[in-house]
Amino acid sequence: MFVFKAAVVGAGVMGGEIAQVIASADIPVLLKDVKQEFVDKGLEKAREVTESQAGKLVKREKLTQEQADAQIEHTLGLITGTTEYGDFGDVDFVIEAVPEKMAIKHQVFADLDAATPGHAILASNTSGLSITEIADITNRPDKVVGFHFFWPASYMRLIEVIEGEETSHETVQAAANFAQAIRKMPVRCAECPGFVVNRILASTASEIWRYQDETGTDVEEIDRALTEAKLVPMGPFLLADNSGLDTALKVAQDMREAYGDRFYVHQGMEELVEQGNLGRKSGKGFYEYS
Ligand SMILES: NC(=O)c1ccc[n+]([C@@H]2O[C@H](COP(=O)([O-])OP(=O)(O)OC[C@H]3O[C@@H](n4cnc5c(N)ncnc54)[C@H](O)[C@@H]3O)[C@@H](O)[C@H]2O)c1
Repeated sequence: MFVFKAAVVGAGVMGGEIAQVIASADIPVLLKDVKQEFVDKGLEKAREVTESQAGKLVKREKLTQEQADAQIEHTLGLITGTTEYGDFGDVDFVIEAVPEKMAIKHQVFADLDAATPGHAILASNTSGLSITEIADITNRPDKVVGFHFFWPASYMRLIEVIEGEETSHETVQAAANFAQAIRKMPVRCAECPGFVVNRILASTASEIWRYQDETGTDVEEIDRALTEAKLVPMGPFLLADNSGLDTALKVAQDMREAYGDRFYVHQGMEELVEQGNLGRKSGKGFYEYS
């Protein structure tokens, strides 16, 4: 299946960059959120990433400034922001990137089932929810698939392609092909909480979170020690801040519920989320952002 037009639903931490990745591969894409201000934030993120990528090419003398400016405008011109489903009638592939809550996913998938043509593939960027359960709300569970990007989506190459119980072989293949068309590396995963990467990531982070809660060690000190030792490119507290603490917390809670005590939910993170401090996107998390 060739994707002539794609769509991304949810223009938050992930959605804006996912739309940018698709547009960079020369594919027109709709970017939908519930309010224009959220759509604008996603479009702003897409511009920031596109300008930064083009700027690097100019520095390496691969493009002139004039060529870079034309490329930036071309790429951004392929992204259409919207708060409605009105233009979804001819999309071929949709990526849902709304908050990690089944009720919200179900609402969006029911809306997408009604708004998109029958052949369209409905993909979810969920970090670990059941694809089978998400698909249950639709009349096309064979065309629902997990399509899990990693933060930051414009940079990280991997996409986990997750098969629900009803997902057809054709849909999995089309999703893997689309991942390659947008210059990513698809990896097929079985359906289980956290899939592959978050299961590994959360089990490692669990030990660090547990240690911090038990000892009260400064989070900045832990992040610095781990990065200076070149164990990780970014410490787990800064990574959680960048990903969004509500998302990081929900993933940790889901993993603990699914696999038990070996997964840990950081108490400090719970408190920050209760206070509305969601990391970089809200201006404060483990760190403060201006
Ligand atoms: N943040 C990460 O590092 C990361 C990485 C991989 C996957 N994910 C997954 O991607 C999804 C989105 O995460 P995020 O961090 O971008 O969340 P986010 O909270 O930053 O953004 C979600 C966006 O969805 C919008 N939204 C809510 N209901 C909507 C609706 N009905 N229609 C359209 N838009 C709607 C919200 O207004 C918000 O702008 C989650 O499932 C998350 O688990 C997140």
